Amino acid sequence: MSRAALYDTTGGPDVLYVAEVADTDPGPGEVTIRVRAAGLNPFDAKMRAGFIPSQAPFPRRIGGDVAGTVEAVGADAVYWDGTPAAVGDDVMGRAAGAVGDRVTAHVNELTRRPAALPVEVAGSLQVAGLTAVSLLATVPVTSADTLLIGGAAGAVGLVAAQLAHATGARVIGTASPVNHELLRTLGIEPIAYGDTLAARVGALGTITAVYDCHGRDALDAGVALDVPVDRMVAIAAYGALEEIGAHNVERDARTPENLARLADELASGKLSLPVAATFPLDEVVAAFTAVESSHAPGKIVVTP
Ligand SMILES: NC(=O)c1ccc[n+]([C@@H]2O[C@H](COP(=O)([O-])OP(=O)(O)OC[C@H]3O[C@@H](n4cnc5c(N)ncnc54)[C@H](OP(=O)(O)O)[C@@H]3O)[C@@H](O)[C@H]2O)c1
Repeated sequence: MSRAALYDTTGGPDVLYVAEVADTDPGPGEVTIRVRAAGLNPFDAKMRAGFIPSQAPFPRRIGGDVAGTVEAVGADAVYWDGTPAAVGDDVMGRAAGAVGDRVTAHVNELTRRPAALPVEVAGSLQVAGLTAVSLLATVPVTSADTLLIGGAAGAVGLVAAQLAHATGARVIGTASPVNHELLRTLGIEPIAYGDTLAARVGALGTITAVYDCHGRDALDAGVALDVPVDRMVAIAAYGALEEIGAHNVERDARTPENLARLADELASGKLSLPVAATFPLDEVVAAFTAVESSHAPGKIVVTP
Protein backbone atom coordinates (compact mmCIF):
# COMPACT_ATOMS: atom_id res chain seq x y z
CA MET A 1 0.00 0.00 0.00
CA SER A 2 0.96 3.65 -0.55
CA ARG A 3 -0.52 6.96 0.55
CA ALA A 4 -1.96 9.47 -1.89
CA ALA A 5 -3.94 12.72 -1.92
CA LEU A 6 -7.58 11.99 -2.80
CA TYR A 7 -10.93 13.77 -3.07
CA ASP A 8 -14.50 12.47 -3.03
CA THR A 9 -16.24 15.59 -4.28
CA THR A 10 -15.28 18.70 -6.22
CA GLY A 11 -14.57 21.86 -4.22
CA GLY A 12 -11.88 23.96 -2.55
CA PRO A 13 -8.50 22.72 -1.30
CA ASP A 14 -10.09 21.31 1.88
CA VAL A 15 -11.89 18.52 -0.03
CA LEU A 16 -8.45 16.87 -0.24
CA TYR A 17 -7.36 14.20 2.21
CA VAL A 18 -4.54 11.67 2.41
CA ALA A 19 -5.35 7.96 2.57
CA GLU A 20 -3.92 4.55 1.72
CA VAL A 21 -4.34 3.30 -1.83
CA ALA A 22 -3.52 -0.10 -3.32
CA ASP A 23 -0.37 -0.26 -5.43
CA THR A 24 -0.80 -1.54 -8.98
CA ASP A 25 1.74 -3.24 -11.22
CA PRO A 26 2.91 -1.18 -14.22
CA GLY A 27 1.34 -2.23 -17.54
CA PRO A 28 3.07 -2.40 -20.93
CA GLY A 29 5.11 0.74 -21.56
CA GLU A 30 4.65 1.88 -17.95
CA VAL A 31 6.81 2.25 -14.86
CA THR A 32 5.95 2.69 -11.20
CA ILE A 33 7.65 5.73 -9.71
CA ARG A 34 8.51 6.33 -6.06
CA VAL A 35 7.49 10.01 -6.02
CA ARG A 36 10.07 12.45 -4.67
CA ALA A 37 8.48 15.68 -5.93
CA ALA A 38 5.08 16.49 -7.38
CA GLY A 39 4.74 20.10 -8.56
CA LEU A 40 1.20 21.53 -8.40
CA ASN A 41 -0.47 23.36 -11.28
CA PRO A 42 -3.54 25.60 -11.63
CA PHE A 43 -4.93 22.83 -13.89
CA ASP A 44 -4.96 20.40 -10.92
CA ALA A 45 -6.84 22.97 -8.83
CA LYS A 46 -9.35 23.60 -11.66
CA MET A 47 -9.98 19.84 -11.99
CA ARG A 48 -10.47 19.48 -8.24
CA ALA A 49 -12.79 22.50 -8.15
CA GLY A 50 -14.93 21.04 -10.94
CA PHE A 51 -14.17 23.90 -13.37
CA ILE A 52 -12.88 21.30 -15.83
CA PRO A 53 -15.52 18.57 -16.30
CA SER A 54 -14.44 14.98 -15.64
CA GLN A 55 -16.23 11.63 -15.68
CA ALA A 56 -13.48 9.98 -13.59
CA PRO A 57 -14.93 8.03 -10.64
CA PHE A 58 -14.39 9.21 -7.03
CA PRO A 59 -12.24 9.01 -5.04
CA ARG A 60 -9.94 10.79 -7.51
CA ARG A 61 -6.21 11.31 -7.24
CA ILE A 62 -4.68 14.70 -8.05
CA GLY A 63 -1.53 16.01 -9.70
CA GLY A 64 0.43 15.58 -12.92
CA ASP A 65 4.00 16.85 -12.71
CA VAL A 66 6.38 14.34 -11.14
CA ALA A 67 9.98 13.44 -10.41
CA GLY A 68 11.11 10.31 -8.63
CA THR A 69 12.79 6.95 -8.85
CA VAL A 70 11.60 3.96 -10.88
CA GLU A 71 10.61 1.07 -8.61
CA ALA A 72 9.00 -1.32 -11.11
CA VAL A 73 9.08 -1.65 -14.90
CA GLY A 74 6.33 -2.97 -17.20
CA ALA A 75 6.89 -4.82 -20.47
CA ASP A 76 8.46 -2.88 -23.36
CA ALA A 77 9.08 0.27 -21.31
CA VAL A 78 11.55 2.19 -23.49
CA TYR A 79 12.25 5.93 -23.17
CA TRP A 80 12.01 8.36 -26.09
CA ASP A 81 15.78 8.05 -26.70
CA GLY A 82 15.54 4.29 -27.20
CA THR A 83 17.04 3.28 -23.84
CA PRO A 84 15.10 0.74 -21.77
CA ALA A 85 13.66 1.78 -18.41
CA ALA A 86 15.23 0.13 -15.36
CA VAL A 87 14.60 -0.01 -11.63
CA GLY A 88 16.51 2.85 -9.98
CA ASP A 89 16.22 5.32 -12.88
CA ASP A 90 15.76 8.93 -11.75
CA VAL A 91 12.96 10.22 -13.96
CA MET A 92 10.78 13.30 -14.42
CA GLY A 93 7.73 14.16 -16.44
CA ARG A 94 4.00 13.59 -16.16
CA ALA A 95 1.94 11.00 -14.30
CA ALA A 96 -1.79 11.38 -13.66
CA GLY A 97 -2.41 11.49 -9.90
CA ALA A 98 1.23 12.20 -9.01
CA VAL A 99 0.55 13.58 -5.51
CA GLY A 100 1.27 10.46 -3.49
CA ASP A 101 4.04 8.08 -2.47
CA ARG A 102 3.91 6.08 -5.72
CA VAL A 103 2.38 6.59 -9.16
CA THR A 104 2.32 4.76 -12.46
CA ALA A 105 3.39 6.66 -15.58
CA HIS A 106 3.81 5.86 -19.27
CA VAL A 107 7.44 6.14 -20.33
CA ASN A 108 6.50 8.31 -23.31
CA GLU A 109 5.68 11.08 -20.80
CA LEU A 110 9.01 10.74 -18.97
CA THR A 111 12.66 11.48 -19.42
CA ARG A 112 15.71 10.86 -17.22
CA ARG A 113 16.44 13.60 -14.67
CA PRO A 114 19.88 15.22 -15.11
CA ALA A 115 21.88 14.66 -11.92
CA ALA A 116 22.51 18.40 -11.53
CA LEU A 117 18.78 19.28 -11.63
CA PRO A 118 17.20 19.49 -8.14
CA VAL A 119 14.37 16.99 -7.82
CA GLU A 120 11.87 19.71 -6.78
CA VAL A 121 12.52 21.65 -10.00
CA ALA A 122 12.44 18.48 -12.10
CA GLY A 123 9.10 17.56 -10.57
CA SER A 124 7.65 20.95 -11.50
CA LEU A 125 8.68 21.21 -15.12
CA GLN A 126 6.49 19.16 -17.46
CA VAL A 127 3.30 21.23 -17.60
CA ALA A 128 4.80 24.72 -17.38
CA GLY A 129 7.90 23.98 -19.44
CA LEU A 130 6.21 22.20 -22.32
CA THR A 131 3.39 24.77 -22.40
CA ALA A 132 6.06 27.47 -22.72
CA VAL A 133 7.78 25.57 -25.55
CA SER A 134 4.38 25.21 -27.20
CA LEU A 135 3.78 28.97 -27.01
CA LEU A 136 7.00 29.60 -28.93
CA ALA A 137 6.10 26.85 -31.42
CA THR A 138 2.68 28.44 -32.01
CA VAL A 139 3.90 32.04 -32.40
CA PRO A 140 7.67 31.98 -32.94
CA VAL A 141 9.67 35.11 -32.13
CA THR A 142 13.07 36.39 -33.22
CA SER A 143 15.36 39.32 -32.49
CA ALA A 144 13.04 41.40 -34.72
CA ASP A 145 10.16 41.02 -32.23
CA THR A 146 8.95 42.90 -29.18
CA LEU A 147 6.84 40.38 -27.26
CA LEU A 148 4.27 41.17 -24.57
CA ILE A 149 3.72 38.32 -22.06
CA GLY A 150 0.72 38.50 -19.73
CA GLY A 151 1.47 36.81 -16.38
CA ALA A 152 5.24 36.68 -16.92
CA ALA A 153 5.99 35.80 -13.27
CA GLY A 154 3.82 32.66 -13.38
CA ALA A 155 5.49 29.34 -14.08
CA VAL A 156 4.52 29.18 -17.77
CA GLY A 157 5.18 32.88 -18.28
CA LEU A 158 8.63 32.71 -16.66
CA VAL A 159 9.82 29.85 -18.85
CA ALA A 160 8.27 31.34 -22.01
CA ALA A 161 9.82 34.75 -21.26
CA GLN A 162 13.30 33.24 -20.88
CA LEU A 163 12.98 31.11 -24.04
CA ALA A 164 11.78 34.15 -26.00
CA HIS A 165 14.54 36.36 -24.56
CA ALA A 166 17.10 33.75 -25.64
CA THR A 167 16.00 34.22 -29.28
CA GLY A 168 17.04 37.87 -29.03
CA ALA A 169 13.47 39.15 -28.84
CA ARG A 170 12.71 42.12 -26.60
CA VAL A 171 10.34 40.78 -23.90
CA ILE A 172 7.95 42.89 -21.82
CA GLY A 173 6.10 40.97 -19.09
CA THR A 174 3.18 41.84 -16.83
CA ALA A 175 3.55 40.96 -13.13
CA SER A 176 2.79 42.18 -9.63
CA PRO A 177 5.33 44.84 -8.58
CA VAL A 178 6.78 42.37 -6.03
CA ASN A 179 7.97 40.22 -8.98
CA HIS A 180 9.46 43.00 -11.12
CA GLU A 181 13.03 42.60 -9.84
CA LEU A 182 12.98 38.86 -10.62
CA LEU A 183 11.91 39.60 -14.19
CA ARG A 184 14.64 42.23 -14.57
CA THR A 185 17.30 39.74 -13.46
CA LEU A 186 16.14 37.47 -16.32
CA GLY A 187 16.32 40.25 -18.91
CA ILE A 188 12.55 40.79 -19.02
CA GLU A 189 11.12 44.33 -18.85
CA PRO A 190 8.42 44.26 -16.16
CA ILE A 191 5.16 46.19 -16.25
CA ALA A 192 2.27 46.07 -13.78
CA TYR A 193 -0.95 44.48 -15.01
CA GLY A 194 -4.26 46.31 -14.54
CA ASP A 195 -5.81 49.55 -15.75
CA THR A 196 -4.42 51.33 -18.82
CA LEU A 197 -2.20 48.37 -19.73
CA ALA A 198 -2.44 48.97 -23.49
CA ALA A 199 -1.48 52.64 -23.18
CA ARG A 200 1.42 51.91 -20.82
CA VAL A 201 2.74 49.07 -23.02
CA GLY A 202 2.26 51.15 -26.17
CA ALA A 203 4.44 53.85 -24.66
CA LEU A 204 7.32 51.33 -24.49
CA GLY A 205 7.39 50.58 -28.21
CA THR A 206 5.70 48.62 -31.01
CA ILE A 207 4.48 45.21 -29.86
CA THR A 208 4.74 42.51 -32.55
CA ALA A 209 3.58 39.41 -30.62
CA VAL A 210 1.57 38.54 -27.50
CA TYR A 211 1.59 35.46 -25.26
CA ASP A 212 -1.21 35.71 -22.69
CA CYS A 213 -0.37 33.34 -19.82
CA HIS A 214 -3.05 34.51 -17.40
CA GLY A 215 -6.39 35.54 -18.91
CA ARG A 216 -7.15 38.00 -21.68
CA ASP A 217 -5.70 41.35 -20.53
CA ALA A 218 -2.57 41.01 -22.65
CA LEU A 219 -4.65 39.87 -25.65
CA ASP A 220 -6.91 42.89 -25.26
CA ALA A 221 -3.84 45.13 -25.06
CA GLY A 222 -2.55 43.47 -28.24
CA VAL A 223 -5.83 44.17 -30.04
CA ALA A 224 -5.74 47.80 -28.89
CA LEU A 225 -2.15 48.08 -30.13
CA ASP A 226 -2.96 46.56 -33.58
CA VAL A 227 -0.92 43.37 -33.09
CA PRO A 228 -2.03 40.96 -35.88
CA VAL A 229 -4.28 38.23 -34.42
CA ASP A 230 -2.09 35.50 -35.89
CA ARG A 231 0.78 36.85 -33.73
CA MET A 232 -1.19 36.37 -30.51
CA VAL A 233 -1.62 33.17 -28.47
CA ALA A 234 -3.17 32.45 -25.08
CA ILE A 235 -3.36 29.52 -22.67
CA ALA A 236 -6.14 30.59 -20.29
CA ALA A 237 -8.26 33.06 -22.24
CA TYR A 238 -11.22 30.68 -22.66
CA GLY A 239 -14.05 32.65 -24.42
CA ALA A 240 -11.74 35.40 -25.67
CA LEU A 241 -9.90 33.30 -28.26
CA GLU A 242 -12.89 32.86 -30.57
CA GLU A 243 -13.98 36.44 -30.03
CA ILE A 244 -10.56 37.84 -30.90
CA GLY A 245 -9.46 35.14 -33.34
CA ALA A 246 -6.09 34.60 -31.62
CA HIS A 247 -4.36 31.18 -31.48
CA ASN A 248 -4.97 28.53 -28.88
CA VAL A 249 -1.66 27.00 -27.86
CA GLU A 250 -0.43 24.11 -30.04
CA ARG A 251 0.23 20.79 -28.32
CA ASP A 252 2.70 19.36 -30.85
CA ALA A 253 5.67 20.57 -28.81
CA ARG A 254 4.73 18.56 -25.68
CA THR A 255 7.29 15.84 -26.28
CA PRO A 256 9.72 14.07 -23.93
CA GLU A 257 12.58 15.25 -26.17
CA ASN A 258 11.62 18.86 -25.48
CA LEU A 259 11.27 18.07 -21.78
CA ALA A 260 14.79 16.62 -21.78
CA ARG A 261 16.15 19.72 -23.54
CA LEU A 262 14.53 22.03 -20.96
CA ALA A 263 15.82 19.84 -18.13
CA ASP A 264 19.38 20.16 -19.48
CA GLU A 265 19.01 23.94 -19.80
CA LEU A 266 17.77 24.19 -16.20
CA ALA A 267 20.55 21.90 -14.98
CA SER A 268 23.19 24.03 -16.71
CA GLY A 269 21.72 27.30 -15.40
CA LYS A 270 20.63 28.62 -18.83
CA LEU A 271 17.02 28.59 -17.60
CA SER A 272 15.52 29.27 -14.19
CA LEU A 273 12.30 27.96 -12.60
CA PRO A 274 12.16 28.95 -8.92
CA VAL A 275 10.54 26.74 -6.29
CA ALA A 276 8.45 28.95 -3.99
CA ALA A 277 7.71 26.33 -1.30
CA THR A 278 7.65 22.60 -0.60
CA PHE A 279 5.06 20.78 1.51
CA PRO A 280 4.93 17.20 2.86
CA LEU A 281 2.09 15.01 1.58
CA ASP A 282 0.10 15.46 4.79
CA GLU A 283 -0.02 19.23 4.11
CA VAL A 284 -1.56 18.92 0.64
CA VAL A 285 -4.46 21.22 1.61
CA ALA A 286 -2.03 23.98 2.61
CA ALA A 287 -0.03 23.35 -0.59
CA PHE A 288 -3.09 23.87 -2.82
CA THR A 289 -4.17 26.88 -0.75
CA ALA A 290 -0.77 28.39 -1.57
CA VAL A 291 -1.15 27.57 -5.29
CA GLU A 292 -4.49 29.35 -5.36
CA SER A 293 -3.58 32.43 -3.33
CA SER A 294 0.13 33.18 -3.49
CA HIS A 295 1.93 35.73 -5.66
CA ALA A 296 5.31 34.30 -4.67
CA PRO A 297 7.04 33.47 -7.97
CA GLY A 298 7.75 29.82 -8.64
CA LYS A 299 6.32 26.41 -8.06
CA ILE A 300 4.58 24.89 -5.06
CA VAL A 301 5.80 21.31 -4.71
CA VAL A 302 4.61 18.33 -2.64
CA THR A 303 7.54 16.19 -1.52
CA PRO A 304 6.07 12.92 -0.18
N1 LIG B 1 -3.89 25.76 -22.05
C1 LIG B 1 -2.87 25.07 -21.52
O1 LIG B 1 -2.37 24.13 -22.11
C2 LIG B 1 -2.33 25.51 -20.19
C3 LIG B 1 -1.16 24.91 -19.70
C4 LIG B 1 -0.63 25.36 -18.49
C5 LIG B 1 -1.29 26.34 -17.77
N2 LIG B 1 -2.47 26.85 -18.26
C6 LIG B 1 -3.15 27.91 -17.51
O2 LIG B 1 -2.36 29.07 -17.59
C7 LIG B 1 -2.46 29.84 -16.42
C8 LIG B 1 -1.06 30.09 -15.83
O3 LIG B 1 -0.49 28.86 -15.41
P1 LIG B 1 0.82 28.89 -14.50
O4 LIG B 1 1.18 27.49 -14.21
O5 LIG B 1 1.84 29.80 -15.10
O6 LIG B 1 0.23 29.58 -13.18
P2 LIG B 1 0.98 30.23 -11.93
O7 LIG B 1 2.39 29.78 -11.85
O8 LIG B 1 0.08 30.02 -10.78
O9 LIG B 1 1.04 31.77 -12.28
C9 LIG B 1 -0.10 32.54 -12.44
C10 LIG B 1 0.35 33.99 -12.55
O10 LIG B 1 -0.77 34.79 -12.92
C11 LIG B 1 -0.42 36.09 -12.58
N3 LIG B 1 -1.58 36.95 -12.46
C12 LIG B 1 -2.51 37.00 -11.47
N4 LIG B 1 -3.43 37.95 -11.76
C13 LIG B 1 -3.05 38.48 -12.96
C14 LIG B 1 -3.60 39.49 -13.80
N5 LIG B 1 -4.73 40.12 -13.48
N6 LIG B 1 -2.96 39.78 -14.96
C15 LIG B 1 -1.82 39.14 -15.32
N7 LIG B 1 -1.26 38.16 -14.56
C16 LIG B 1 -1.89 37.86 -13.41
C17 LIG B 1 0.33 36.00 -11.26
O11 LIG B 1 1.36 36.95 -11.36
P3 LIG B 1 1.88 37.80 -10.10
O12 LIG B 1 2.30 36.74 -9.10
O13 LIG B 1 3.02 38.58 -10.63
O14 LIG B 1 0.71 38.62 -9.61
C18 LIG B 1 0.86 34.56 -11.25
O15 LIG B 1 2.25 34.54 -11.22
C19 LIG B 1 -3.41 29.05 -15.50
O16 LIG B 1 -4.72 29.56 -15.68
C20 LIG B 1 -3.32 27.64 -16.04
O17 LIG B 1 -4.47 26.88 -15.75
C21 LIG B 1 -2.98 26.47 -19.44
